[in-house]
Amino acid sequence: MGNEFVVLSDAPVGLAGDRLDFVRYVDALAELVTADTTQTPFTVGVFGAWGSGKSSLLRMLDERLSTDHAERTVRVHFNPWVHRREPNMLLPLLHTLQDTLAEDRSNRFRETVKRLRFMIANLTTDALLRKVSGGNVSIDKINELAEQYAEQRGKVESEMRNLRRTLQEQADAVGERGARLLFFIDDLDRCEPHEIIDLLESVKLFLDLRNVCVILAVAKNVVDRGVGVKYREFGFEASTVIEIGDEYLDKMIQLPLYLPPIEAERFLSGLELTGDLAEHASLLSEIVVPNPRRIKRVLNSCSMASVIARGSRVRPDVLIRLAALRIQSPELYAAVAARPELAPALEDAYAGRLPLDRPDQFIARYGQADADAVKLAVQKFYRAQAYLSAVFADTVFAEVKDELPRYLRMLGS
Ligand SMILES: Nc1ncnc2c1ncn2[C@@H]1O[C@H](COP(=O)(O)OP(=O)(O)OP(=O)(O)O)[C@@H](O)[C@H]1O
Ligand SMILES: [Mg+2]
Repeated sequence: MGNEFVVLSDAPVGLAGDRLDFVRYVDALAELVTADTTQTPFTVGVFGAWGSGKSSLLRMLDERLSTDHAERTVRVHFNPWVHRREPNMLLPLLHTLQDTLAEDRSNRFRETVKRLRFMIANLTTDALLRKVSGGNVSIDKINELAEQYAEQRGKVESEMRNLRRTLQEQADAVGERGARLLFFIDDLDRCEPHEIIDLLESVKLFLDLRNVCVILAVAKNVVDRGVGVKYREFGFEASTVIEIGDEYLDKMIQLPLYLPPIEAERFLSGLELTGDLAEHASLLSEIVVPNPRRIKRVLNSCSMASVIARGSRVRPDVLIRLAALRIQSPELYAAVAARPELAPALEDAYAGRLPLDRPDQFIARYGQADADAVKLAVQKFYRAQAYLSAVFADTVFAEVKDELPRYLRMLGS
């Protein structure tokens, strides 16, 4: 590889770093959440796989709102993961809200800040918190629970309702000053599966209020994992868990936004690659999976290998292919590392030169002792993922057959 290389950061990007045209979603969302015609409470779910750009989208929306609708929204950034050890989410939620309102440039929310401070002080000592802790409360159960609680305390009106009423009053007070409360909730997937549903319940319980919008970044499989763990005792089948997860989110989210798979070619061209990576951009665009984080990891692995290889003769097209395998199909990469002849064998299989139903040809090439193992491995990985046909479309691995162990070492096998 050439001397020039890139190491790409994995930090979420803002509008200036947008290479996936997220701005079209951002502008639409900014308009929706600020429109007078949008009824509240209103929850947007930003759905996307691991590393697909959810946090980046939230950051861009925050940026857009702060520049174009600064007075219209109070943007509260709540990271449940940071507070996951707390007995419940109410206190950190209120604290975060209070801190954000206190920072208002025009100081519009003085009264609300005072009121929230008072609520927090009362709550800290209140037995109610223990009652709603541990996630044993859901919005459906609140009436039932509130009754039990009122009985216990000998109160007619439950504290919980009072609490929600007070919160509603404060959300309305913010509305009267021309602003809407907007909660950004991200990094749910960093929490333990059993904490995730509790967190969602808390959000539903405490933020389902007039003049409040919630933007929630979620990977659906993470919620399903949460449902699976939370309701483990019921022994649901995997498909039922997925259904419950769907239902759960349907109830909670009024506007789902699904981040689509990206166009790799466009993303790569936006990264302004140089040197060998730029020269092999079209190979790269064929062999990366459509996920920005994975693509960056492939490119960074190539850079790492190019530094390790400095001074020795290497073929960039081989390294790029192996880096893609290393990041995107670790099991196949490990199999190639253990048995390098598998790589040219897969090239032959894809080209039809090595029919999978001809054991005699495997024996002729690899000898009786190894034929079966190579055949099994080829069968296992052949067409295992769509992009593999591009990795093995040529004869590059056959051409460097004897040097493959050296290449594999550069990528760390
Ligand atoms: N619109 C974009 N333009 C350019 N790069 C992007 C864009 N969106 C995301 N990325 C890049 O993709 C990677 C993953 O982004 P991000 O952290 O936003 O994804 P995520 O879905 O929040 O991930 P996680 O599942 O870990 O929460 C980061 O390296 C980020 O810089
Ligand atoms: Mg994220």
